Amino acid sequence: MATSVSSLELLLSSPGKTESFGYAIGQMLRGGEVLALIGELGAGKTALVRGIAAGLGVAADSVTSPTFMLVHEYQGRLPVIHIDLYRLQRPEEAELIGLTDYLADDVAVAIEWADRFPQLLPDDRLEVRLAHRTRRTRGAQLEARGSRSRSLLARIKKILRPTPRSSQPILQPARKASPR
Ligand SMILES: Nc1ncnc2c1ncn2[C@@H]1O[C@H](COP(=O)(O)OP(=O)(O)OP(=O)(O)O)[C@@H](O)[C@H]1O
Ligand SMILES: [Mg+2]
Repeated sequence: MATSVSSLELLLSSPGKTESFGYAIGQMLRGGEVLALIGELGAGKTALVRGIAAGLGVAADSVTSPTFMLVHEYQGRLPVIHIDLYRLQRPEEAELIGLTDYLADDVAVAIEWADRFPQLLPDDRLEVRLAHRTRRTRGAQLEARGSRSRSLLARIKKILRPTPRSSQPILQPARKASPR
């Protein structure tokens, strides 16, 4: 996938890098954003949410996999709603737990296994695809669908960019930028 205004590709070279990336995302959230997390078992979806929550000021150890709960809520600078659709059998069950009620302007929502029920997702969402590369590395592909998500992605890119004072970016991009 080519990196464009509405997409970003990164290599996350350790679990800590995944959490740092989540942290950067968390810092950039303003409320009303939905992160659709997609990737196989152990791809790092929960690790990313742990970072996102930390970036919003939530204590790191309060974030666990909501596999048996379906929904967790953490209180940070914004409330974070952490949803896991892995065990959901039918979309009607999501209605029963009021999933759509969570999609509000003043909360941040992160949904693991979002691709299981794409019909439940809002049109405006930041899709984050995580994939195993090696035992310790993961690839991340972000794609913004909608204006709110594009604006979030732009802020994320800005925070990842190295400043003149620090020669190292927070994370290395997945592919080399073309020479200027
Ligand atoms: N670069 C990496 N980023 C994130 N996790 C990594 C990385 N390298 C190794 N790991 C390991 O992969 C596992 C990721 O677990 P995590 O629970 O975050 O995955 P998940 O996508 O939420 O899985 P599930 O589908 O079961 O919910 C952890 O054990 C973590 O230590
Ligand atoms: Mg998980």
